[in-house]
Amino acid sequence: MKCTRCRAKAEVQLRAHNAGFCRPCYLFYFRRQVERAIAGERMFTPGERLLVAVSGGKDSLALWDVLADLGYDTTGLYLGLGIGAYSEQSHTKVAQFAQRRGLALRVVAFEEEAAGLAVPAVAAATRRPPCSACGTMKRHHFDAAAIDGGFDVLVTGHNLDDEAARLMGNVLRWQKDHLARQRPVLLPTHPRFVRKVKPLYLVSEYETAVYAFMRGIDYIVDECPNAAGAAQLLYKDVLNRLEVASPGTKLAFVKEFLRTGQPAFAQTEREAPRDCEGCGMPSYGPLCAYCRLVREVQSKASAGASALA
Ligand code: AMP
Ligand code: FES
Ligand code: ZN
Repeated sequence: MKCTRCRAKAEVQLRAHNAGFCRPCYLFYFRRQVERAIAGERMFTPGERLLVAVSGGKDSLALWDVLADLGYDTTGLYLGLGIGAYSEQSHTKVAQFAQRRGLALRVVAFEEEAAGLAVPAVAAATRRPPCSACGTMKRHHFDAAAIDGGFDVLVTGHNLDDEAARLMGNVLRWQKDHLARQRPVLLPTHPRFVRKVKPLYLVSEYETAVYAFMRGIDYIVDECPNAAGAAQLLYKDVLNRLEVASPGTKLAFVKEFLRTGQPAFAQTEREAPRDCEGCGMPSYGPLCAYCRLVREVQSKASAGASALA
């Protein structure tokens, strides 16, 4: 196959786009995909301060790499979830990337926030699935770090596969309020929220893997050990099978939802949040989900301590 742009020998074939690229043209194509998403969805402008949430995986590091190359004002945010060797290795990958590229990095370690707040400990204390506890904690710290650091935008590395899998989960249960908020740009609905954007929402996991490989980005390949068996992985697998049978399925699923389905759901969007009585962050009840989680952990710990006394 020949490169779609320059007719040299293609190194990558993208069936969903009916295109192939040599290495230099692929790097050009990938950057242009990101630039198009940013411009097309009005995600941010060059003067704004971006906080880029980086997990150590290929998507978020590839995205940070592109944004830094494009000259945006970026700072990385790494959340230390406290999931044993997985967290240690991912932290190392992020720290090395930031150091090599001379980029600023902020780190928030859950267990340093208060005792018992590492994800496995929270999951055990509250008897929640680790991913559910983890999601609540991540969302809180993304929002809190962005507002505390005076950033304009929070950028995450969610890719097309993530968005398609999430859409499938939301559709299978017809979660109207989730469908209402599944968008590549979320505008703030509270003074302590910043704009949240996903510049890779139309870029597949395969495409970011190829970009990371070509750029020599050292990322953590392992999935989080808690992810195995999660519904999200099952949806990704189903979508990948559909994609093999009919290339472009994932792209059409997400794009057409955003064009035709999402606006109808957006009308049912819930009311604006108020201030959490615990932490002051936005909340849909007296206490936000994060404060409720932390209080549950703390009450279990004090009940345990008094039983031992
Ligand atoms: P995931 O929920 O693991 O699929 O990750 C989706 C996105 O959330 C990633 O691309 C990152 O932008 C962000 N993210 C996930 N885990 C972390 C973490 N530990 N620290 C910072 N950002 C993260
Ligand atoms: Fe949160 Fe695995 S439980 S990343
Ligand atoms: Zn709170």
